Amino acid sequence: MPQVTLAVNGTSHTVEVEARTLLVEVLRETLRLTGTHVGCDTSQCGACVVHLDGDSVKSCTLLAVQAQGATITTIEGIAAADGTLHPMQEAFREYHALQCGFCTPGMVMSAIDLVEKHPQGLSEQEIREGLEGNICRCTGYHNIVKAIAAAAEVMQGRAGTLASAAE
Ligand code: FES
Ligand code: FES
Repeated sequence: MPQVTLAVNGTSHTVEVEARTLLVEVLRETLRLTGTHVGCDTSQCGACVVHLDGDSVKSCTLLAVQAQGATITTIEGIAAADGTLHPMQEAFREYHALQCGFCTPGMVMSAIDLVEKHPQGLSEQEIREGLEGNICRCTGYHNIVKAIAAAAEVMQGRAGTLASAAE
């Protein structure tokens, strides 16, 4: 069987896969990183989004062998080593940007990439368009958009805290 080596959340793993094995299967079933969710398996919902070499990707859409040598970050890898939440995680909590939480890992990973790719800041319209690949069945998106806007202020240094981002 083919082997792939992936650096996942800072740790290198070499695993045997079948040629047809999806990246999300390696993450969830082999490495037991079950924070990455599978909502559709058909590249629609975005619950499976992770970062591959710094870009958000739908991990149900990539074969594991296509990720050979890549650096992967999952939702388990974004908090600080001392457990301090990433500003995007903190904003989702602060703004009640989730209900059932199923979409949340993918939303958070997509949102971080979206903010990082727009260092000049994001309009509400740009945030909404940036989330087109992520489906949430619960929230109506409004609080998700507010959370991302606030997190962007903190991540990009325009606000020191989420509280000041809201002012
Ligand atoms: S599980 Fe990958 S997009 Fe839905
Ligand atoms: S919080 Fe339930 S699907 Fe988004």
